[in-house]
Amino acid sequence: MAQSIAAHGGTLINRLVPAEQREALLKQAAALPVIKINAWAISDLDLIGVGAFSPLTGFMAEEDYRSVVESMRLANGLVWSIPITLGVEETVAQTLQIGQPAALVGEDDGVVYGIIDVSSIYKADQQHEAVKVFKTDDTAHPGVQKLYSKPNTYVGGSVQVLNRPKPEKFEEFYFDPAQTRAIFAEKGWKTVVGFQTRNPVHRAHEYIQKSAMEIVDGLFLNPLVGETKSDDVPANVRMKSYLALLENYYPKDRVFLGVFPAAMRYAGPREAIFHAMVRKNYGCTHFIVGRDHAGVGDYYGTYEAQEIFSNFTKEELGITPLFFEHSFFCKKCGNMASSKTCPHDKADHLHLSGTKVRELLRSGQCPPPEFSRPEVAKILIEGMSEAVKQ
Ligand code: ADX
Repeated sequence: MAQSIAAHGGTLINRLVPAEQREALLKQAAALPVIKINAWAISDLDLIGVGAFSPLTGFMAEEDYRSVVESMRLANGLVWSIPITLGVEETVAQTLQIGQPAALVGEDDGVVYGIIDVSSIYKADQQHEAVKVFKTDDTAHPGVQKLYSKPNTYVGGSVQVLNRPKPEKFEEFYFDPAQTRAIFAEKGWKTVVGFQTRNPVHRAHEYIQKSAMEIVDGLFLNPLVGETKSDDVPANVRMKSYLALLENYYPKDRVFLGVFPAAMRYAGPREAIFHAMVRKNYGCTHFIVGRDHAGVGDYYGTYEAQEIFSNFTKEELGITPLFFEHSFFCKKCGNMASSKTCPHDKADHLHLSGTKVRELLRSGQCPPPEFSRPEVAKILIEGMSEAVKQ
């Protein structure tokens, strides 16, 4: 079996409570002060619990938070670019004490998801956080909007997970980092490239994935299925499109599909670093970063999410980013290409804006096969007409 890559920080964290301690801890939790948590915090908690966010063992305490915001590192110097924080209302903060545990309870379902050992309670300057993390404090930015909707009192501390959120659909594609690591090892993959996506996979995505597949043993297609903005294609439609694509165009033994149940931050460059660290925890040795990775609107430059990696050494990152230029279909070349491989004029390139593609799909028309595989387009058209009916 192939040896797995080290988790970020050296150890794959596991904060899931062992079965034999669960009942006692649930009883204890019933007597603790309660912090109500929303779907986003439940997802963060679970990802901490299974080690996807290794080396984090909980929500960030003040020292780590400030260090991450200022310098993209945890207080101990390890690379970490996105704050993972728990916001609570001031009235809730007043019920908490440093050094004491509190119960983390789902705000909609009352489920006790875990316990936090409160080690830090602090005020965040969210405008400063926005400018540092998102490079803007524009409230039209979906990540900034989310940040501002969160209370600015943050509670940090290690967590223990008592209950896990139940996937609504596609349960068979949920794998924890310990599982994906074991699966990659079982397959004998020494090198695995991770692919983050929040969109249906079009020909450009396929092209960069397959270019990477030429040099590594396996592809981990790892679509994000947590919270996204409302105009992104819903995760269940995307999942169907990934399955159709894999069925028809990928060798079965070289691709593994598993979902990434995290929320999308839309933090562009900083999120690219975060995405890479997390995929290392899932066992990837390489990670694809194309054009405007995790970007939204015009907030980030086309290659900023690639340039940001130069702030860190290869050793600090521990995973190899694979950068790809903007890819397109060139009519003269008769294939997919980028400016690195195609000498022709822009007029020879097939360019379709997201708006144009949505327009076509909505009117029941497939975009050209040079843009999207017909099997994928068909599923997207069905998905759109379902959405209209609802
Ligand atoms: S993201 O927000 O998850 O990054 P998306 O699903 O569109 O969005 O992109 C997934 C990955 O493919 C990212 O690394 C992105 O940079 C890359 N990508 C998307 N479209 C292209 C393209 N035309 N050329 C090169 N890379 C691309």
